[in-house]
Amino acid sequence: MVNFEASINAIKAFLPDKLQHPRVGIVCGSGLSGLADEFKDIVIVPYKEIPGFASSTVPGHKSAFAFGLLGNGEGVPVVAMLGRFHPYEGHSLSSVVYPIRVMAKLGVKDIIITNAAGSLNPAIPVGTSKFFVVVQDHLALPNLTGMNPLLGPQTSFDLPRFLPLSDAYSPSLRRLAFLAAHRLQLKDSALAEGVYAWVSGPSYETPAEGRFLRQAGADVVGMSTIPEVLAAKEEGLNVMVLSLVTNFVVIPDTYRSIKDEVKAELAGKKVELPVAQVVSHEEVLTIGKEKAGVLMKIVENIVDSL
Ligand code: ADE
Repeated sequence: MVNFEASINAIKAFLPDKLQHPRVGIVCGSGLSGLADEFKDIVIVPYKEIPGFASSTVPGHKSAFAFGLLGNGEGVPVVAMLGRFHPYEGHSLSSVVYPIRVMAKLGVKDIIITNAAGSLNPAIPVGTSKFFVVVQDHLALPNLTGMNPLLGPQTSFDLPRFLPLSDAYSPSLRRLAFLAAHRLQLKDSALAEGVYAWVSGPSYETPAEGRFLRQAGADVVGMSTIPEVLAAKEEGLNVMVLSLVTNFVVIPDTYRSIKDEVKAELAGKKVELPVAQVVSHEEVLTIGKEKAGVLMKIVENIVDSL
């Protein structure tokens, strides 16, 4: 069993003094690793060089930490995860959140977690300027049903056993996100607020599941982030989540009845069977790449005002 000390020592061996204590952590979602292109004095630390780390298997995800300085003037020391781990890759929940705990132990105080998500809310359509959602709360069915990264013996008495989540998403960081959007002169509609539903994946949701999540109050849905949020909160970090909306989850009000189609066919009518719209990971990556620049600017602006 690898301990944190071994991981931290391996990382620190790569870093010059000025990057040894990153203040802000950033987790880059699908197609969003370009966020690190703006770092000054960047140092890449591949996960495979760090004892205790898994390696990401998702196309479009890199597998490294990027350390650097971000923002105006001297810049703030930051660390970004280029590629994250998901339970759907077969990683245990403790491996998924291990890098978050490492970032906390390196000195990170504020963490900005990004992801690509599907919209469940017609007021957050894809294809308009409304592309980013500042997450204000979450709905995590896996957490409620036994897939919770905090399950298990208490690892430290410094950490709370029963973690309150009523304030999971830092109001002050969320405020900075909206101020950043204003400073960047983004349209008012560019940044929405909403509730993120975590699903384990890797299958996308059925129409019935999409409808269920929508009716339960979720605005966007994705397969990552929430285990990281829980670990970050347990470690005492201030958390902000920014979702990039890459696709719309189509939720039909009614099903087209195949029974009725067959009746029509038997009555001599020509029928065409319904063809469902499907989401593709390529679509998610393309939109991610297109919008990474705007997201980077928002993140940079937030870091500047910390
Ligand atoms: N990530 C992007 N779109 C998604 C969707 N529809 N469901 C789950 N995760 C997603």
